[in-house]
Amino acid sequence: MRKFKKFIYALAPMAGVTDFAFRKICADFGADMVVTEMVSIKALDYKSIKTNNLLREESNALRVCQFFGHDVASINRVLKNEIFKNFDFIDFNCGCPAPKIVKNADGSAMMKNLDRAREIISALVKASPKPVSVKFRLGIDGNQNYIEFAKMCEECGVSFLTLHARTREQGYAGEVDKAAYKKLVNSVNVPVFWSGDIKTKQDVEFAKQIGCAGVMIGRAALGNPEIFSTLKGKKPPYSKKQTIINHLDMLKTLFKTERTLVAYFKKHLMWYVRSTKNATLIKQKILEFTTLKQIEDLIEEM
Ligand SMILES: Cc1cc2nc3c(=O)[nH]c(=O)nc-3n(C[C@H](O)[C@H](O)[C@H](O)COP(=O)(O)O)c2cc1C
Repeated sequence: MRKFKKFIYALAPMAGVTDFAFRKICADFGADMVVTEMVSIKALDYKSIKTNNLLREESNALRVCQFFGHDVASINRVLKNEIFKNFDFIDFNCGCPAPKIVKNADGSAMMKNLDRAREIISALVKASPKPVSVKFRLGIDGNQNYIEFAKMCEECGVSFLTLHARTREQGYAGEVDKAAYKKLVNSVNVPVFWSGDIKTKQDVEFAKQIGCAGVMIGRAALGNPEIFSTLKGKKPPYSKKQTIINHLDMLKTLFKTERTLVAYFKKHLMWYVRSTKNATLIKQKILEFTTLKQIEDLIEEM
């Protein structure tokens, strides 16, 4: 079991969002831990791990690589790769609600059969060169078995647990079940992270009070890495404009074509401009962008 020396502010894993550049920027703004988006173990087993962009990691924070999948042979092969020494933790996704993931018995479907999950998580703990953590939900298919699930993870030897206190069926809607975090903290001995609707200092204070080891911030960090400085009461290291410039510059080394870079970065840009004057108008303009020059001209005007 691992105890953290201080309360941890983490960037939550977000597929299609938490690229290496965004993780580095969030760390610059004060995130103590950053998590990659979920990476398929099976895909890593088939493709070259060294060239996998999802595994690029350069941040100055605790580095977490998140996996999803269920093939134990793949787990054993993949985790032998030296690249994982570049991370501090290996996280296992047992919370993704997406139909294409659940249909494949991955993500939140892991919570359906605890014996099966135990076998996979034990294999992961055994094969991993780094401590393993697990991120999960309240439950799936009307069965809120998160306490039983968490105890099973603890028995497997995981280092910390992250709860997103919604069911698979809730997706991202409605309120998180705040009481569930306390119940979990009181039921296990490993550190517990709170994931879900953290936006303000009061939210963080509440998580601290009930004994959480940290918070993971997801949607509130979209286009807003400043949230880490704000919540920690620290001065941001650079401006919004500089943040956008840095993000784009780093991504230029990741994407092979201008078309794919522009298509990807437009999403981040829309979030970045959300709080600026004339945001609706600017967002309409961004939607039409097809070239890097259009993006760079907009940044210049900011
Ligand atoms: C766009 C998006 C992608 C996500 N991708 C992942 C993922 O790859 N792995 C994961 O464990 N959770 C993923 N999540 C869930 C978040 O990590 C987090 O648990 C959830 O959004 C609740 O926290 P929030 O209210 O701070 O966003 C994703 C959420 C969003 C919005």
